[in-house]
Amino acid sequence: MDLLRNVVVFLHIVGFAITFGAWTAEAAARRFGFTRLMEYGLLLSLVTGLALAAPWPAGIELNYAKIGVKLAILLVLGAVLGMGSARQRRTGQPVPRAMFLVAGLLSLAAAGIAVLW
Ligand code: HEM
Repeated sequence: MDLLRNVVVFLHIVGFAITFGAWTAEAAARRFGFTRLMEYGLLLSLVTGLALAAPWPAGIELNYAKIGVKLAILLVLGAVLGMGSARQRRTGQPVPRAMFLVAGLLSLAAAGIAVLW
């Protein structure tokens, strides 16, 4: 069970890597747009995060305040990505630069909270 939990934590981190990696790639290429990969990574973080939010194996202690804050950040980030992607499809232009920055900062903030809190 410990190994299984660690595998799920690993996949949870891969989800973050996909989201933030896709964001970084967009920034480095100076395209500054939202991509499907960011949404897929976020979905992976959400599914694995919810699985980890259950206290298994027995006896494990979880920081539910931290988990709640991360869930809130993830939901806001999901809304930002959703609104931005719809706007991109409508206008054919990348999202406003501030919106792009907010998405990257939210993703980074969630990871920072995960490891520093
Ligand atoms: C973008 C959003 C998220 C990021 C970047 C993120 C990042 C991380 C990272 C790096 C870890 C491993 C470090 C650690 O164990 O503390 C972790 C663990 C964990 N995350 Fe997340 N997370 C996110 C969202 C979520 C959500 C939405 C949930 C639950 C609803 C969640 C629940 C958990 C749990 C339960 C653990 C394991 C803690 C433990 O076993 O002690 N995370 N997260």
